[in-house]
Amino acid sequence: MKIAVYGATGYTGRLIVAELVRRNISTLILGRNEQDLASIPGPVQRQVAGLDDIEALSNHLQGCDTVISCVAPFSQFGFYVLEAAILARCNYIDTSGEQRWIQRVFDEYGPRAAAAGIICIPSATDDTVTGDLIAGLVAKRLDTLESLVVHHGFFDVDMSRGTMKSFYALMQIPPLIWREGRWVEQASSALGNVRFPAAEDEQASFLFPGAELIGIQHHQAANKMHATVNLDLVSAMTGLNEDVIATLPKGPAEERRQAARLTMLVEATSPNGQIVRGYARGHDLYKLTAVVAVEAAIRCRDVRGSRGVLAPSEAFDAESFLNDLQQFGVDWYIGV
Ligand SMILES: NC(=O)c1ccc[n+]([C@@H]2O[C@H](COP(=O)([O-])OP(=O)(O)OC[C@H]3O[C@@H](n4cnc5c(N)ncnc54)[C@H](OP(=O)(O)O)[C@@H]3O)[C@@H](O)[C@H]2O)c1
Repeated sequence: MKIAVYGATGYTGRLIVAELVRRNISTLILGRNEQDLASIPGPVQRQVAGLDDIEALSNHLQGCDTVISCVAPFSQFGFYVLEAAILARCNYIDTSGEQRWIQRVFDEYGPRAAAAGIICIPSATDDTVTGDLIAGLVAKRLDTLESLVVHHGFFDVDMSRGTMKSFYALMQIPPLIWREGRWVEQASSALGNVRFPAAEDEQASFLFPGAELIGIQHHQAANKMHATVNLDLVSAMTGLNEDVIATLPKGPAEERRQAARLTMLVEATSPNGQIVRGYARGHDLYKLTAVVAVEAAIRCRDVRGSRGVLAPSEAFDAESFLNDLQQFGVDWYIGV
């Protein structure tokens, strides 16, 4: 198996390469800057490739099973690597968290990826993959879904510059929520307190453009879906703009990175009011994203049947994926 990483020189890309090297997977790293590529440790193949020549990029991807893209922001640069992957017939994974980009991948690229016979999984990240897999398991406990809500609880999180850039762009447009068979924009607002499954983790929550919602809607028929995020994350972005973000360090130092915690809490309600909840919790979130992206890239090889753009629950066995994340500190639970 050979896996390529575009954007390998970034904060997330470096962690992904380290995870591939740790697993002894043949790895090709790609980026625009030769010196930056040379600074990445490990026995990997290196190739300078800009985004502007899709055909050349696609030639580099020939012979790779999967490419993992971690460019930022995806709304601006995401399509180059996806176009190259389709041309090379190479499976595609990305680390995006941008709702509109993910919607575009499903809508615009789904038929093309299927015709090329490849699997695309946008947003193979800590929160989207765990949230999607838990949502699929929670929904199985109900015959029919009326509503599904995904609560993101981020605690002690210092974001990378690339995440802040993408997140800032994300916060300039209203979140998409699912209402009666279609996506609608709704301005963000406070939605009351959420108690995350640890007594001290009750926090005010706000409507949020949850990346996972787009994929969940692909495999679940609920009348209503929305996502929230807790006050800590909203506070971390308050007062930031593009100029300020440009002056910040590339990402948190290792100790701060490791301190970050996440709880993804999913609540599904049936038409007669029955509620099922489930959650997944993890820590060291950039490392967890690297593990999740690599695990997804490897598992693409074993996906039988469906081709095209898939949500994690459509591509993978949810329990097996979540159980394999336990060794990286993830715990999960489905209750009634
Ligand atoms: N849970 C989540 O939602 C989650 C978690 C982790 C990451 N992410 C997302 O993953 C993305 C990467 O994050 P990060 O922290 O790794 O960002 P980063 O450190 O800024 O890295 C961005 C990468 O993209 C490359 N790049 C940017 N513009 C380019 C261009 N025009 N041509 C070629 N390469 C270009 C950069 O190359 P250079 O080094 O040459 O500049 C770098 O390798 C972000 O969108 C972030 O939001 C999301």
